[in-house]
Amino acid sequence: MDIDTQTRESFPTDDPAVVTCGLPYANGDLHIGHLRTYVGGDIFSRALKRLGQDTAFVSGSDMHGTPVAVNAAEEGVTPESFALRHHEQYETTFPQFGIEFDNYGHTHDETNVKMTREIVDELIQAGYVYEREIPIAYDPAADQWLPDRFVNGTCPYCGAQARGDECDEGCGRHLEPGEIETPVSTITGNDAEYRSREHQFFAVSDLQSYLSSFLDRLEGTTNAQNQPREWVEGELQDWCITRDMDWGVDYPDDNDLVLYVWVDAPIEYISSTKQYAEAVGTDTFDWEAAWRGSEESLSSTPSIGDTDENTLTPDIDTGGEIIHIIGRDIIQHHTVFWPAMLRTAGYTEPRAVMASGFITLEGKGFSTSRNRAVWADEYLDEGFHPDLLRYYLATNGGFQQDVDFSWSRFRERVNNELVGTVGNFIYRSLLFAAREFDGTPDVELSDSVEERIETAIDAFTAGINDYSVRDIGDSAVKLSQFGNEYIQRHEPWKLDNDDPKKQQVMRDCIQIAKAVAVLFEPVTPAAAERVWADLGESGDVHTVGVESALAAPPQTFGEPTELFEKIPEERVDELTAKLDDRVTEATDDSNDDAQSAGNAETESESESETAKNTNESRSESDMTDIDPIADDRIDFEDFEELDLRVAKIVETEPIEDADKLARVVVDVGVEQRQLVAGIRQLHDLDDLIGETVVIVANLEKAEIFGVESNGMLLAAGADADLLTTREDADPGTSIQ
Ligand code: 2FM
Ligand code: ZN
Repeated sequence: MDIDTQTRESFPTDDPAVVTCGLPYANGDLHIGHLRTYVGGDIFSRALKRLGQDTAFVSGSDMHGTPVAVNAAEEGVTPESFALRHHEQYETTFPQFGIEFDNYGHTHDETNVKMTREIVDELIQAGYVYEREIPIAYDPAADQWLPDRFVNGTCPYCGAQARGDECDEGCGRHLEPGEIETPVSTITGNDAEYRSREHQFFAVSDLQSYLSSFLDRLEGTTNAQNQPREWVEGELQDWCITRDMDWGVDYPDDNDLVLYVWVDAPIEYISSTKQYAEAVGTDTFDWEAAWRGSEESLSSTPSIGDTDENTLTPDIDTGGEIIHIIGRDIIQHHTVFWPAMLRTAGYTEPRAVMASGFITLEGKGFSTSRNRAVWADEYLDEGFHPDLLRYYLATNGGFQQDVDFSWSRFRERVNNELVGTVGNFIYRSLLFAAREFDGTPDVELSDSVEERIETAIDAFTAGINDYSVRDIGDSAVKLSQFGNEYIQRHEPWKLDNDDPKKQQVMRDCIQIAKAVAVLFEPVTPAAAERVWADLGESGDVHTVGVESALAAPPQTFGEPTELFEKIPEERVDELTAKLDDRVTEATDDSNDDAQSAGNAETESESESETAKNTNESRSESDMTDIDPIADDRIDFEDFEELDLRVAKIVETEPIEDADKLARVVVDVGVEQRQLVAGIRQLHDLDDLIGETVVIVANLEKAEIFGVESNGMLLAAGADADLLTTREDADPGTSIQ
């Protein structure tokens, strides 16, 4: 069968699945911006398990590399003790938010060091590793090589300020050693010089055809499928896999070099799965079946120069379902370097990569240097239940979209959706049934409600197969909405207890409440546990299958407790004021420190290192590098020449060969218009149908990538965040 036309079996499949979350660098405190991908991963893994998929949910702390070494040096402690301290902190924090990894290891443990050596040996044996002399940044004053975060400079691709190995404030590309321009040492602040040095390279460019076909097969979010195209189908560079450092996994037979942190870090996905399998027994979870599949697949490891082998597409039914859940800043590592390593060493390629958008706080970036964050432990200390945050993070927009956290929006969603819809339905139903019938009336579930629950189960299952964390959560919220309408419509409180209609309505409502608990468990596991207990259900709500949504509830139970509590308005003011005070204090302190140390740049650089998987570093630059407001004024007539209109998106389609561009058809009231817009970096095209946008309607027509564009969509920033209207202005309305 032609692999490109072969579609994967839907979940649940018979193969073991491994759901992983990107490894956090063990180098700082966790804030809620970090939690988004972990909450998403936890929800996805719980949902898969609920569907009956044999699943291991694994991750671990990323202990090596300069992100840890730089921060440890600033604190004057060894990288090992520094990283271990943070690792232990993460191990405690994740479960406090209901993030229950089956195994949470770390990259410095024996299993991972051994696994890394084995895999690197496989790459060497296959002939994919070679030595090359390259320029490496060097600080003569410190007499030190300057790997990765020990050097800053200018990105050669986009000109933004960048770190040695990544353009974190600009185009987001991975940078190879020697690429960064105008290098400056972060140790002394002096200009660095380039000196020649031999390093080891992994011949990723020899896997170009394989990677291209891999991207055709890759499932997950569209950003992870689209972004790597330009890297893989452009000039694919080989990858330097060694660094001049002590801290890391040693490169075989070389005392001076360690492996680049991005080699041993993803290997922890495999090591962590192995540790889990060893803890529960390989009969319970077969890690090798997941990661290596059958014996035949092992013999298909390619050899360098063998073009047929490189283009050979593997049997995708071999091995398990590997699903990586990451922040969008590390897409390249997971869709280029990592599958190249897996392919060469004979391991299972990822089935899906789900890359989350970033998080902002009250409309601006997180900034740990300005204490502009909601810290994980602070959130809990404020007395908020983790389920509330899980719900907010999981459902406030699609997974790949950016999410803004604001205390007022948080309150609004908790009060309206969790308290007003889900909690209200479950509490009123259980309370009424307990008071009137001491539990569930002894009648059969009605056909129509059974069908409605089946529809919710289908939506839940579709959410998994569409890799949509939001849809998984929505299936239960929509079912609760239906429950509220149902009970309201039938007004059982107006009927006598021996009226069959009252018995039927309450029987149905209790079943709906039970189904909501089952379907909402991945998002709000603690609340589901409460409903389960209130219903007097035996067994564990965390391990029941999705089919138990339709199993009859117990006949007797007592009065329930309220599920979620409303957040009073004063709390929002109080928390927002607290945040503002903290930011002011930290900004004053940091200005003082910077002035006395004369080294503001180093300070902000070190802080942005804790920002991975959030848009903190990007937003720090947004706050300081905003384009100046134009000096040249235009007169009102000039402005009036622009015909700006409200429009509604009716159709979207990606434009082939252009990663960011889409063909968009909009309704402008009097007609439909076709536009070409660069909006795919931030928006999921399918999610945009029905969105209200603003267009320049009288812009000259243009042809872009062979497609006519008749107007322009307005959007903010390089990511093209689409402008919309606050209320429901009709298509065609003029913007004045
Ligand atoms: O960017 C980061 O925060 C890395 N620590 C992620 C590693 S994910 C995995 F591949 F190892
Ligand atoms: Zn760049």
